[in-house]
Amino acid sequence: MSSKNSPAHQHHQETMPIFSEAFRRVKLMRRLEPSSSSVGLAGLFLLSALVTCCFLYFNYTPFGFLPQSQSLAPVPVSSAEDNNSSVGVGEFLGENNNGCDLFEGKWVWDESYPLYDSKDCNFLDDGFRCSENGRHDFFYTKWRWQPKHCNLPRFNATMMLEKLRNKRLVFAGDSIGRNQWESLLCMLSSVVTNKESIYEVNGSPITKHKGFLVFKFRDFNCTVEYYRAPFLVLQSRPPAGAARNIRTTLKVDKLDWNSLKWRDAHVLVLNTGHWWTYGKTIRERCYFQEGMEVKMEMKVEDAYKKSMETVLNWIQDNVNPNMTQVFFRTYAPVHFRGGDWRTGGSCHLETLPELDPSMVPNDNWTQFKIANSLLSTHKNTTEFVNLKVLNVTQMTGQRKDGHSSIYYLGPNGGTAALHRQDCSHWCLPGVPDTWNELLYAMLMKHEGFFS
Ligand SMILES: *[C@@H]1O[C@H](CO)[C@@H](O)[C@H](O)[C@H]1NC(C)=O
Ligand SMILES: *[C@@H]1O[C@H](CO)[C@@H](O)[C@H](O)[C@H]1NC(C)=O
Ligand SMILES: *[C@@H]1O[C@H](CO)[C@@H](O)[C@H](O)[C@H]1NC(C)=O
Ligand SMILES: *[C@@H]1O[C@H](CO)[C@@H](O)[C@H](O)[C@H]1NC(C)=O
Ligand SMILES: *[C@@H]1O[C@H](CO)[C@@H](O)[C@H](O)[C@H]1NC(C)=O
Ligand SMILES: *[C@@H]1O[C@H](CO)[C@@H](O)[C@H](O)[C@H]1NC(C)=O
Ligand SMILES: *[C@@H]1O[C@H](CO)[C@@H](O)[C@H](O)[C@H]1NC(C)=O
Ligand SMILES: *[C@@H]1O[C@H](CO)[C@@H](O)[C@H](O)[C@H]1NC(C)=O
Repeated sequence: MSSKNSPAHQHHQETMPIFSEAFRRVKLMRRLEPSSSSVGLAGLFLLSALVTCCFLYFNYTPFGFLPQSQSLAPVPVSSAEDNNSSVGVGEFLGENNNGCDLFEGKWVWDESYPLYDSKDCNFLDDGFRCSENGRHDFFYTKWRWQPKHCNLPRFNATMMLEKLRNKRLVFAGDSIGRNQWESLLCMLSSVVTNKESIYEVNGSPITKHKGFLVFKFRDFNCTVEYYRAPFLVLQSRPPAGAARNIRTTLKVDKLDWNSLKWRDAHVLVLNTGHWWTYGKTIRERCYFQEGMEVKMEMKVEDAYKKSMETVLNWIQDNVNPNMTQVFFRTYAPVHFRGGDWRTGGSCHLETLPELDPSMVPNDNWTQFKIANSLLSTHKNTTEFVNLKVLNVTQMTGQRKDGHSSIYYLGPNGGTAALHRQDCSHWCLPGVPDTWNELLYAMLMKHEGFFS
């Protein structure tokens, strides 16, 4: 607990070289854990996993020893670059860092992470409880995002709850948005001692299939809500007289009905992207509709672009900028190696991030590119003062180690078959915690919003 609340300066201490740190950790575990034989085995397992990763890592790096390899060396090395990018570059919340791009930076090892333990959090789907579901490596919980030109504030749940007093924070989007919402519930509830004071207002349990869930933090009179809307725009019955083979249509010019409920939130975090594929639309006989007309020929990419425009126009025309701060979280890349979720793609052997961003393949981020070009064009215009972008795509692309992979079946479900992996959702604690730290930083920076 004490380490979780360590002051900011400790938090920004110099990054440890991963490998020496990992070895130290193995030794530490040997000393700490009671049963000797199982510990020996666990140590051996970790060690061999590490060595494997080491080889994998170097195999991916064309010349073996590019800049990152420095931080992987077994002897601590510091460099001017490391010094400046880790400490003393100024706080994001400080006065002179208005221009700091939070999304340019790197992942650094930090012993004080994770921010919570899934065992202590009642607000998680079993599918995200990787360590309880049998995932034994833990490195993926230990990475902190370090922006290049400034330091993030340490996440302070008490502070965030105080700022959210009498307010509503709403997530609307697909199950990756749900992933982030549950992460935030865990991060916030970690400082609430009376867990009974946090409850779903309709008494609904956390289950995968509910359309929306509203959790109230009673002592703060604030709610943290999730609305399932994988496309953000409306998916419903086709118009009268449409061809028989059409099962549903996506109204690319109309928002989901529930948008009426999101509209008056104080903080609204939107996302969409993963469902904009052929497989989740046209193959399921879901076509695109504009006005009363079903556009049988419209391509998924074009429909996505139109829908994003609809979302942006809705923000401009229907959301009160004096009341609501909107965030759009960009696409969170998947990491299926050798296929996709239907064809045996895998990620269960990944235990380290890709530390070299230039090694992250980005040729399949179609959804990111479409949304990004629209968001970039709108970013500078005054009508969009209340829209901010949580631009997590690049940083998240580096985190091939963070997925639920074969550990999504729940504490009693065992591990999934190797050809049925989940390389799109994220273990918690894990990567979505970082998105929420960024959200926290941006909210704290937002002058006047929390007055
Ligand atoms: C978090 O914020 C609260 C309220 O502002 C403050 O009292 C507390 O000291 C902070 N905790 C840490 C660890 O900084
Ligand atoms: C980095 O900072 C440490 C402590 O502040 C200092 O001892 C070291 O010489 C610095 N390294 C470089 C390369 O500047
Ligand atoms: C690090 O910061 C110092 C002064 O704070 C500056 O002189 C030096 O050029 C910086 N080094 C790098 C690599 O940015
Ligand atoms: C509780 O919060 C809601 C907004 O979410 C607000 O309308 C209401 O007035 C608040 N209640 C009190 C007692 O402040
Ligand atoms: C927002 O506040 C400004 C200044 O207080 C006011 O002029 C404007 O009409 C408000 N906008 C809305 C939509 O209420
Ligand atoms: C991109 O997707 C195609 C087909 O969906 C696949 O064959 C290819 O391996 C993917 N590329 C990367 C870098 O993931
Ligand atoms: C998001 O970040 C990428 C780099 O990772 C950049 O190319 C893009 O312009 C950014 N988009 C927005 C809307 O800020
Ligand atoms: C937005 O403004 C920044 C600097 O203020 C500029 O570099 C960028 O090109 C602008 N983008 C667009 C799309 O106008």
